[in-house]
Amino acid sequence: MEETSTLPLPDAFLDFLNENGLDPSIYTATDSTPRYIRLKPGCEACVEEIEAEIKCKLEKVGWLPDFFSLPPDIQIANSNAYREGKIYGIDAASGAAVSALNISEGDHVLDLCAAPGAKLCMILDLLGNSGTVTGVDVTRHRLAACRTLLQKYALGDRCRLFVADGTTFSLIPVRVHSDSKSWVQDPELIFYGQHSGVVGLSKRELYQTVCENDASSCGYDKVLVDAECTHDGSIRHIQKFEHWGWKTLQRRVLNAERTDSLTVLQLQLLSNGFRLLKVGGSLVYSTCSLTVAQNEDVVERFLLENASAELQDVEAAKNWPCRSGRIWKTLRFDPLTSQTSGLFVAKADAASVAVSMMLRNSNAESSHCRVPQRYNKPNPALASWQIRSIGFSSTKAIEMGLEYFLFHDTLYTMTIETELLPQAKLVLLEL
Ligand SMILES: C[S@@+](CC[C@H](N)C(=O)[O-])C[C@H]1O[C@@H](n2cnc3c(N)ncnc32)[C@H](O)[C@@H]1O
Repeated sequence: MEETSTLPLPDAFLDFLNENGLDPSIYTATDSTPRYIRLKPGCEACVEEIEAEIKCKLEKVGWLPDFFSLPPDIQIANSNAYREGKIYGIDAASGAAVSALNISEGDHVLDLCAAPGAKLCMILDLLGNSGTVTGVDVTRHRLAACRTLLQKYALGDRCRLFVADGTTFSLIPVRVHSDSKSWVQDPELIFYGQHSGVVGLSKRELYQTVCENDASSCGYDKVLVDAECTHDGSIRHIQKFEHWGWKTLQRRVLNAERTDSLTVLQLQLLSNGFRLLKVGGSLVYSTCSLTVAQNEDVVERFLLENASAELQDVEAAKNWPCRSGRIWKTLRFDPLTSQTSGLFVAKADAASVAVSMMLRNSNAESSHCRVPQRYNKPNPALASWQIRSIGFSSTKAIEMGLEYFLFHDTLYTMTIETELLPQAKLVLLEL
């Protein structure tokens, strides 16, 4: 705590960090943490002009394409480059969360907590003239701001925006046409572009839900769940409470009851986002909180309840200045390690069928392991199994020499044909 006494952080916030096991020293670098901008594709030749206008040098961010850093006190909002839509203000950690999605040409992307839309714009820029983006947010005025951003940056062509609750949103991407008869008019469509897939559709086609269609085959290729959170990773946000009042901070950020209801919301958003993902698709869960409760704990519960979800390495992250989260493969950005705002990032893919179970070997009394099962068709015998535990992939289990697992209090032995991984076949033999 001594080290942090010079920080512009209120005591109540320092207590909150302590209670959540967060080292306040990660915020020590906050005053020197740069601002970041992203250059709109096609504006690469404008760097010098922008530098001349804002009277400062733009430093290229080596680990993230199209991103530049600038000193924290430089304002860009009044610059022509910003007004003309040549640059975006977006933190590099947010850029990393989008990058983790590994957007490919033609992807149909769902952004389940889209407003105000910095990440949505980056996704649209990465897609270029292909694919579609569906942006959802429960707060109408925030989504309206997102629509304004789309218009400013001329990115609306392949995008549609819905005011809706992301925990129940059910519409599939509009590439799929069927003659299903049932449809609903909720959620409210507040924007769509010429090539968003909406033009020319009947209401029935637009409002097709996953209830009528199997999301595993016609769901989204990529889903971003940038969930509502306490924003404690963003000290710039926390510092705003100096003006809004510390009571508001107490109510919105530090209140334990609010955190509890937020974690329920986060899990629901994550689970629904995953439900809308097609098999083989990727989902990124991110929050700008650094508490374990809103990140690793939520991801752990999600994995426990969603047997076909597999945590994935973020390929590009080997060059990123971030730390590993408490769960293997998850990532944490913070001002000290990354020179960015705080952000947690986890990436999961949807496998066809998976079984989670508890492993036991002769040395370890009890170890946790998740073993993916892939079949062309779900195996009914396995589908009915109760999910018991989570933690490692089957490859990791093999590396660890785990050979046995406990399921419903019965000890089983496990054989995995390693050369067939990731089409691993699990053979269960009751001992
Ligand atoms: C962290 S912000 C998202 C930031 C956004 N991804 C961006 O890059 O600009 C979280 C958003 O979640 C929205 N939200 C909260 N509850 C929601 C819900 N149940 N369904 C959908 N969105 C929700 C909030 O209105 C807020 O805009």
